[in-house]
Amino acid sequence: MFYETAKNDHGLPRDPFKAIVVPRPIGWITSISATGEINLAPYSFFNAVSEEPPMVMFSSGGRKDSISFIEETREFVCNFASFALREAMSKTGTEFPRGVNEMSEAGLEPAPARLVRPPRVAAAPCALECKLLQIVDLRDLDGQTSQRYVVFGQVVGVHIDDRFIKDGRLDTAAMQPIARCGYSDYAVVNEVFPMVRPRLPRQPPKPEAAE
Ligand SMILES: Cc1cc2nc3c(=O)[nH]c(=O)nc-3n(C[C@H](O)[C@H](O)[C@H](O)COP(=O)(O)O)c2cc1C
Repeated sequence: MFYETAKNDHGLPRDPFKAIVVPRPIGWITSISATGEINLAPYSFFNAVSEEPPMVMFSSGGRKDSISFIEETREFVCNFASFALREAMSKTGTEFPRGVNEMSEAGLEPAPARLVRPPRVAAAPCALECKLLQIVDLRDLDGQTSQRYVVFGQVVGVHIDDRFIKDGRLDTAAMQPIARCGYSDYAVVNEVFPMVRPRLPRQPPKPEAAE
C-alpha cells in the first residue's frame, strides 16, 4: 500500500506512522522549574543525535511542562525506563497539572544529579545529565509552526547502575530497556546480537565501529 500523508488516505482505522518508526527509545525527562517544582514525563520522540560531544533530543507536541521548565532552568535529566519500571513510566505520562510531581505520583524515589539541578530516577538503570543547547520550533512545509518543539541538550554527566556493567561493557539485555511502538504497544530489549561493520581493505580495522 501507499498513502500520502497530506491526505492520510491509508484506509486503516488508525494512522500507522508511529507503528512504522519503531522501536523508539523513551527519554524519561526530569526537569525543574525556576521555583523548584519537579517534573517527570516520558517522551518517545527522543534519541541521541551525537556521540562527541554526546547530545540528545526530544520533541514535545505543544508547550508541555517539561519544555516550560527546561526553558526556565536550562537543564534536564534523561532517565531510561526498564521493563521493571514500565508501570511507573506509564503513570508519569498522565497529563497532571503543572506543579504536580509525577515522580511522587508514580512512587519513584529521586536521587540527586551531580552537575544539574533536576533529580534523576534512582531506580533507572541509566540517566544522562543534560544542559540545554536549543529549542527548535519545527516549521512545516508551509512555513507554519507545527506546535512541535524539539529540545536539544548536551550530556554533561552519565549515571550507570554498576549492576549492569559486565566485563567492562554495558549489558544492555540485562537492563531490559523498554521502547515505544505503535498504538499501545511497547518493546523490551532482552536479547542483542553483534555484527561488525564491514571495512574496505585499505581502512584500518576498528575494534568497534562508531555507527
Ligand atoms: C511512552 C510515552 C511516550 C510519550 N512520548 C511523547 C512524545 O514524544 N512527545 C510528547 O509531546 N508527548 C509524549 N508523551 C505524552 C507525555 O508524556 C504527556 O503528555 C505528559 O503528560 C507530558 O508531561 P509534562 O507536561 O509534564 O511535560 C508520551 C507518553 C508516553 C506514555
